[in-house]
Amino acid sequence: MRKLFLMATVAVFIAMNVSAQSTEQLLLGGWKFQKGAQSGAETPNFNDSKWQSVTIPHDWAISGPFDKEIDKQVVAIEQNGELEATEKTGRTGSLPWIGEGWYRRSIEIPDGYSHAELIFDGAMAEPKVYVEGKFAGYWAYGYTTFALDITPYLPKNGGKITPGKYSVAVHLKNRDESHRWYPGAGLYRPVRLSLSQDVAVKTFGIFARTTGIEGINSDGTSAQSARITVTTALRISNSQKIKVLHTLIGNGSEVAHTEKDLSGDETTQIITINNPKLWSPEHPVLYVLETSIICDGKIVDSQKTNIGIRTVEYGGEGFKLNGKLTKFRGVCLHHDLGPLGSAFNKAAFRRQVRLLKKIGCNAIRTSHNNPAPWQMDICDEMGILVMAESCDMWVSPKCKNGYAIFFEQIDNQSPNADGRPWWQRDFENLVVVNRNHPSIVMWSIGNEIPDQGSTVGLKYTRLIQNLIHSLDNTRLCTQGLDRGEQCLASGVFQNTDVPGYNYRLHVYDKGHEHSPSGLVLGTETASTISSRGVYKFPAEENHGDAYDDGQISSYDLESCIWSNLPDDDWIWQDKAPWVTGEFVWTGFDYLGEPTPYDDYWPSRSSYFGIFDLAGLPKDRAYLYRTHWAPEKETLHILPHWTWTGREGQVTPIFCYTSYPEAELFINGKSQGRKRHIDMTLDDYRNNRIDVKMPWGDMSKFADPNAPEGKNRLDRYRLRWMNVKYESGEIKVVAYDKNGNKAEEKIIKTAGKPHHLVLEADRNTLTATPLVSGMPQDSPDLSFVTVSVVDKDGNLCPDAANQLTFSVSGSAKFNSACNGDATSTEVFTKPTMKAFHGKVVVVVEATSQKGNAVLKVSGKGLQGASVEIKVE
Ligand code: GAL
Repeated sequence: MRKLFLMATVAVFIAMNVSAQSTEQLLLGGWKFQKGAQSGAETPNFNDSKWQSVTIPHDWAISGPFDKEIDKQVVAIEQNGELEATEKTGRTGSLPWIGEGWYRRSIEIPDGYSHAELIFDGAMAEPKVYVEGKFAGYWAYGYTTFALDITPYLPKNGGKITPGKYSVAVHLKNRDESHRWYPGAGLYRPVRLSLSQDVAVKTFGIFARTTGIEGINSDGTSAQSARITVTTALRISNSQKIKVLHTLIGNGSEVAHTEKDLSGDETTQIITINNPKLWSPEHPVLYVLETSIICDGKIVDSQKTNIGIRTVEYGGEGFKLNGKLTKFRGVCLHHDLGPLGSAFNKAAFRRQVRLLKKIGCNAIRTSHNNPAPWQMDICDEMGILVMAESCDMWVSPKCKNGYAIFFEQIDNQSPNADGRPWWQRDFENLVVVNRNHPSIVMWSIGNEIPDQGSTVGLKYTRLIQNLIHSLDNTRLCTQGLDRGEQCLASGVFQNTDVPGYNYRLHVYDKGHEHSPSGLVLGTETASTISSRGVYKFPAEENHGDAYDDGQISSYDLESCIWSNLPDDDWIWQDKAPWVTGEFVWTGFDYLGEPTPYDDYWPSRSSYFGIFDLAGLPKDRAYLYRTHWAPEKETLHILPHWTWTGREGQVTPIFCYTSYPEAELFINGKSQGRKRHIDMTLDDYRNNRIDVKMPWGDMSKFADPNAPEGKNRLDRYRLRWMNVKYESGEIKVVAYDKNGNKAEEKIIKTAGKPHHLVLEADRNTLTATPLVSGMPQDSPDLSFVTVSVVDKDGNLCPDAANQLTFSVSGSAKFNSACNGDATSTEVFTKPTMKAFHGKVVVVVEATSQKGNAVLKVSGKGLQGASVEIKVE
């Protein structure tokens, strides 16, 4: 906890970039926003007094309302194997993100600076930036972090920018049919102002990497020595005498130092550190690299970069972190944060990482776009490996106005145009912006690129990888390939550093033969679907069919036709050493892509998550925990046991547990003991069932009807398939490997909804720091889970009571979410129905210190409140 706090302090310090001469300010507050076209809004004296005052990160669409007509598409989703176009409603979330919008604010430039840049961590989409009414620059892709030199648009006096206030206006444009998920809209990530002298480190000009570690100790946490190589690229005006200094700070004190005279505009230095502590997900130790530029004897620039000392290697036996074989136990994450939309918030992302680490997850894939820099800082601090991804298409489109319209396009008109196609500029920025993060261990050059079966795909696989290798020679590239045979025939698979398959378990063996590193990565796995708290009968495998109510069963037996169950992935992960891990689709439900309800209104968010849209665990979270964290004790039973009307009917009970064996009792009567089975990969291969997809390229290795003892579902689940429902109590008693009773768990039939129980994930928040009244960080958040329970405290698993929220004191209501993918209740209104007994309320700290109270009430229920401190 202490370390996290220190890291957060360091992050704020870096963001402020307090230094003698150069400075970086976060421009979070003081923005005015207006949706729609606004004639003349770029001019400095434009009257924006009627516009909305906003703080960024800001998503202009998240407050809805949900509307079926928004981005309604009549299309066949080819990668889902559809041949005929049908009406797709919630595909991009049904929130009002399409269209134009404007943001305006002024920036203040103090005396003494010669150079100014605006850095956009991401702006959705197609940002056109105006400074003092003049067009200063443009970027096409809404996910790319980019910097704009705005010095030419500011008045200068004697080589220095004239101090004063200057206007900045940003125009954004979001096209319909440009995404396969909810992109959000607006300045959804921070904007920063960087001020410096003529001589300074170039923006994104520092590249620090570990180039050697000697004598790693047996637990992998430290070593005898390590080398960090730092390349520093400078902006220089004329031939001054320049020195580049690097000081490495560990745990508050200097651990190494190097300095060198500059010749040219770039220098590479090697820093040797004795007894370094190594960075890993378990021990995310960070050092601070302080870089100072001395010009004619004066410090003109100083920068701080967080770095971690660690090595990554691929090949032979697998992926190695600090020399230790490590499998990816990863998840794919879209960029939205459920009820917060796409507006990046540190506390919300930290919560995601905390929840993921609890179930043994060690990696994330930023599907399918460049990550937010704040997000990467958190991955470094909290310790989670990252596959940083770029895009979802290259030349051939997946949707009419998607990234493919820009990929090969050369911008000739904007002041920041440089004659290169967007793909080069976007990939370059992906790498140079993010390459110092120790958490990033590989780059993904694309997801299910439709060109993967062609010579165009091969050409770009080579070009993009070469570009990335030239900017970062320490990491390899992967891409998520879904056309199992076609990408082998085209050579794309063989030419990808670490080829990744999305699903397609049936070609893993062939992939293994052809992989350049000998490794195959599950870049995307499972796509198992479920709705938290929903159970359907009979409990059977279902790969593609939908129900009438827009929900999916939580027996974890349902996937898309192109995908599979977690159990199918795990036999490969467990038994084939050359399969180097997986990235599950997805860690959390996200807005948009409500497959298999793409054409069912009002489904508007996904069902793929291990956690739901509110961040509540689905049953599957416990299943993943048994596989990913077998050393942690897990004992979980499903379904709930409140089934009025199902008396006497078969109601299977599953137990997800890390123990080898368990016994089930219903109202005290034993239903027998069950044990996990083992199975060889060949047993599994021989159990093959073919499922042809429209593209003819699909089969599965799984017989759903294989008997107990030979069924792959019995490797990680204990299943009592024939038990009949009677109200009362179910109990599982788990036995350890010596057959001794180790733990038990009970679920009881619930009575009527009676009262509410509130549980905050954090009871103490940090007040938003202000400088001159402007926020310097994203607001801190507490996520409070509200449960509807009976008089004895049992969760009422079907409760759908309308609940009302109010927050008083030093915090405010931010949003609520119940995880129901079919709800059209707006997240930002302080009322929402419980979904299967639960809802999560997000409470936001203000800049005031003090106490806050969240009160929740519902008709006919005893209300509840929780106190949250803001410090
Ligand atoms: C994959 C795709 C993901 C998502 C997923 C759903 O093919 O890469 O973006 O669409 O399918 O199963």
